[in-house]
Amino acid sequence: MAAPTPKLAFVMVGLPARGKTFIARKIARYLSWLGHRTEVYNVGSYRRARLGRHRHEFFDPRNEAGQSARRDVALEALDDMLGFLRTGGDIAIYDATNNTPERRALVRARCAAEGVDVVFVESICDDPVIIESNIRATKARSPDYEGVPEEEAVRDFRQRIAHYASEYQRVAEDEGPFVKIIDVGRKMELYRIEGYLLARVVHFLVNLHVRPRRVWLTRHGESSFNVSGRIGGDAALSEAGRAYASHLASVVRERVGEGVVVWTSTLRRTIETAEALGKPYRAWRALDEIDAGICDGMTYAEIAEQMPNEFERRAVDKFGYRYPRGESYQDVIQRLEPVIFELEREKAPLLIIGHQGVLRALYAYMMDRPPSECPFVSIPLHTILELEPTAYGCEERRIELSPTPVPPPPPSKPSSPPIERMP
Ligand code: SIN
Repeated sequence: MAAPTPKLAFVMVGLPARGKTFIARKIARYLSWLGHRTEVYNVGSYRRARLGRHRHEFFDPRNEAGQSARRDVALEALDDMLGFLRTGGDIAIYDATNNTPERRALVRARCAAEGVDVVFVESICDDPVIIESNIRATKARSPDYEGVPEEEAVRDFRQRIAHYASEYQRVAEDEGPFVKIIDVGRKMELYRIEGYLLARVVHFLVNLHVRPRRVWLTRHGESSFNVSGRIGGDAALSEAGRAYASHLASVVRERVGEGVVVWTSTLRRTIETAEALGKPYRAWRALDEIDAGICDGMTYAEIAEQMPNEFERRAVDKFGYRYPRGESYQDVIQRLEPVIFELEREKAPLLIIGHQGVLRALYAYMMDRPPSECPFVSIPLHTILELEPTAYGCEERRIELSPTPVPPPPPSKPSSPPIERMP
């Protein structure tokens, strides 16, 4: 009988304004996208929900009532996290300062009692410029300071940091495995990081950065296979597809400029679309469209008629379905992993010219949507999805380009991303 996979908790460590929540959410998004049931437990959110908002005095270690209230919410979050791991969760991230060896020992002991492995992820940063920018970009706007003038919020938050700093001790080797991220990844220290999954998480963390930039996702221009409703293949662009390629090129020049980095698949339709830009591009096999196996080149009507069982199986589980001798969405996600690492690492604006299935998977990653939703993400032809990663998420805008006739927009839903149409 196969041994059960051990449950795992990443326990964040570090002073406030060191990007712990950013890192915690990135790890969670990456692991969820790979199919691990992963949740983040943020102690600050528990504190606000249970105890309301507080000024810096509450965080002073000499404030006994504050200490005890903070310990209670930290333990509540920890219990919830262990409950999640006990009831089907695979990996959890405990997002708190955990700034003393005593607190970390307590967390470790409770995890050990439930058979949960702990890896500390400590974010260390002493660069005043990075800290200041983090305070202003995120903390002064946090729910803790709603309605408080920015300068007052910044002053109070600095005092809060000083309270934590007064008793902070960095993680030591006798506390167990750790990853230390120093100065936003300029340096990393690893201790007892073993096994495939942890190695991947570390590799992922090495590539993270916080510089703002935009990522544009677009399908290739219309191909002759699109016109005839056939899937797969390696068809050339149609006339409308070529017109889209040149329109895309002018919009990219105008809105992004020369600094854009362009990626395509190795298939003709994405390369022909990229060629119109007149600049170098990187063609990735990992970005090739989902492999439709023996259905490659067929229309869905032909599949339904000639292989009704396959058609039915795909309709029942579009995410898990694998085309005979081809791929499933799950397979596509696995092969996109190196693309994700490079996407995180790239600092320039990035234009990815891809295919519907593959872009759905990338979109799900960037927008932190469950992978099982991939097959249902709408990625129409001749539309740019402009995604802008923010501190804790990603903003989306859709830009539809003519000349393909554009259907009228559906009635707007509050959650639908803004759509822009360009002549
Ligand atoms: C908070 O209450 O904002 C964070 C609690 C902690 O991590 O110490």
